[in-house]
Amino acid sequence: MSVVESTVEDFKVERRVTVDDKMMINCRADLNQLVPFKYKWAWEKYLVGCANHWMPNEVNMTADIDLWRSKDGLTDQERVIIKRNLGFFATADSLVANNLVLAIYRHITNPECRQYLLRQAFEEALHTHSYQHIIESLGLDQAETFNMYREIPSVATKANWALPFTDSLSDPTFKTGTPEADQRLLRDLIAFYVVFEGIFFYVGFTQILSMGRRNKMVGTAEQFQYILRDESMHMNFGIDMINQIKLESPGLWTESFKKEVINLIKQGVELEHQYAKDTINDGILGMNADMLGDFLHIIANRRLQQIGLPEQYPQKENPFPWMSEMMDLKKEKNFFETRVTEYQTGGALDWDDV
Ligand SMILES: [Fe+2]
Ligand SMILES: [Fe+2]
Repeated sequence: MSVVESTVEDFKVERRVTVDDKMMINCRADLNQLVPFKYKWAWEKYLVGCANHWMPNEVNMTADIDLWRSKDGLTDQERVIIKRNLGFFATADSLVANNLVLAIYRHITNPECRQYLLRQAFEEALHTHSYQHIIESLGLDQAETFNMYREIPSVATKANWALPFTDSLSDPTFKTGTPEADQRLLRDLIAFYVVFEGIFFYVGFTQILSMGRRNKMVGTAEQFQYILRDESMHMNFGIDMINQIKLESPGLWTESFKKEVINLIKQGVELEHQYAKDTINDGILGMNADMLGDFLHIIANRRLQQIGLPEQYPQKENPFPWMSEMMDLKKEKNFFETRVTEYQTGGALDWDDV
């Protein structure tokens, strides 16, 4: 009997997968079968991600190149801000992509979430492509830029803070299924989605977008705006996953774990504030390090609230209402608050929105 015949004869139809079989982690249902959907928010975010598709090389960099080459178009500090942010982001997005593919993906046992993770992984590749497009267009020193995450302390500390979370999960012997291991996965999700993508990106985004609002480095700023749109979606998807895991495994969300999470978020705020101080000494582009600190507190309170934890910072007036308008009203909605309905699809970005 041939292999084909024996396979056909041995074939048995198993029970069909139902919605109740599906779970975020530790699920035994067939992971190759996308439907029936259990988490419609994951599929919706995948569709929105695809509708927002963009390519970095479609963005015209001519004005940026002229400005970068001109003698008095930019101040020294503005040049530092551009270089420092490209240095941080050029490796940060690879770090996020590696965490997704090598650590997170294997342990999220749900096909619709995996579909979004695949989309997100490609978007992270596009972001790295975007930074490379900017670095190449401006003719920056590539070795200097790509090594900042080793050589510049305020950049290095952010990457070094995140690495242990992904390292422990990408260990091939790591398996979920015990409370300790499941908490380890949850900790990695919080470190990457809430702190890394939800806090560590925001000083850089605010600085570059503020430059764009002043009509400087508009091609660079346009790409950062597309990236911010993608990142808001990544973060909200991550928060939906975290909240869903909490719902399905409430035993993981212990008082001591909550304290640990609050502590992680506070550490993230400290490191990002340090990065703000390192890139901005005095006031520039309508901002200073204190204003960025206040802004980080507002963002951190929002992140805490989104995962069901108490706010840790006093209420302050938002120093950058144009940023919060862009983030909060349009994109920073997650499934547990409201479904995303206001997302713009594709097309050009409107600076009036910023
Ligand atoms: Fe990214
Ligand atoms: Fe991201």
